[in-house]
Amino acid sequence: MKKSINDINVKGKRVLVRCDFNVPLQEGKITDENRITAALPTIKKLLADGGRLILCSHLGKPKGPDPAATLAPVAERLSQHLGLTVKFHDCDCVVCDETLTLVDQLKNGEVMLLQNTRFRKEESKNEEAFSKDLASIADVYVNDAFGSAHRAHCSTVGVTQFVGETAVGYLMEKELKFLGDAVENPERPFVAILGGAKVSDKIPVINNLLGKVDKLIIGGGMAYTFFAAKGHGVGTSLLEADRIEFAKEMLQKAKEKGVELLLPVDTVVAQEFGKDAAHKTVASDSIEDDWMGLDIGEKTRELFTSALKDAKTVIWNGPMGVFEFPNFAKGTLALAQALAALDATTIIGGGDSAAAVNQLGYGDKMTHISTGGGASLEFLEGKKLPGVEAVQDK
Ligand code: 3PG
Repeated sequence: MKKSINDINVKGKRVLVRCDFNVPLQEGKITDENRITAALPTIKKLLADGGRLILCSHLGKPKGPDPAATLAPVAERLSQHLGLTVKFHDCDCVVCDETLTLVDQLKNGEVMLLQNTRFRKEESKNEEAFSKDLASIADVYVNDAFGSAHRAHCSTVGVTQFVGETAVGYLMEKELKFLGDAVENPERPFVAILGGAKVSDKIPVINNLLGKVDKLIIGGGMAYTFFAAKGHGVGTSLLEADRIEFAKEMLQKAKEKGVELLLPVDTVVAQEFGKDAAHKTVASDSIEDDWMGLDIGEKTRELFTSALKDAKTVIWNGPMGVFEFPNFAKGTLALAQALAALDATTIIGGGDSAAAVNQLGYGDKMTHISTGGGASLEFLEGKKLPGVEAVQDK
């Protein structure tokens, strides 16, 4: 069990909190602030306990200082949410002499935000110099960045070697509890729904979950590689020819493990990829040459919904179709509705699935929506997350 912020005394201490403020931005405006609101309980608790908080995060994938990846908009939104000024230290070095002075001036219950950790080239390589710089401004380190816990970077791993006391925050704890319980100790029947574009992204997840679930539902772009594995034509649908063998193996493994593996029985197809593309529904084994599958069909919606009926634990990762286009969002919507109606623990993996469920208006009907995209996938693969491992045990 990892040490939590309930186990430490932060009064008057400099607390470096790694958050995941990697939020989507359009023209400098935050378009989805779930990751900001998800970090608030930890920040509020540490402020109430009299900590002097220094928040840090990455944003985007800059390879050094880049004004387009500034965390300034996050500082502004955080200030509004917290009802106090989050001092933003806009410095390309992230930590420098000036930072030390500012940190020294921080009073108990005050909070500042550092600039994007990826402005320092050492960050992604987990190099000692930046890890030590980060540690130099902290008495305590708290990792609440579940979304970044699969990255062994300076701000998630390296820094922990040079700070005396480390703990995980409430968001990290919550994510580990929901995802961990679901995978290791699920109330059954346990159903996993996997979708999204690529089989290749989910190979280890499928492999790991087939050993744990009672049913596995596969939809979205990745289903077409499974159709091909069954010998069906897929027209111009997404297909990963080099994964057909893997799909065959997984169909076989499901049989051996007694896992019911459900694939779409009908598919909404179009001749071009576009919001207003003309479309029709065909049987999944009858997709014609010039047509591409963009959503699951009505019979599949019914099939998947009824397969979920008695479920007690459901994990969903990846949309069923191109949900960004209303014409091809019906499959994803039907599953969101089906999950919302269940008397079960429903967990949504991050990334696209979280965006889909929120966009379709069912976010508050789910038991837990993960803030981690890659991190939640790696967790479902059964991997240990370096950002979690690095934190001290109780
Ligand atoms: C995410 O958005 O999945 C996390 O913030 C990690 O971001 P990264 O893939 O750029 O490391």
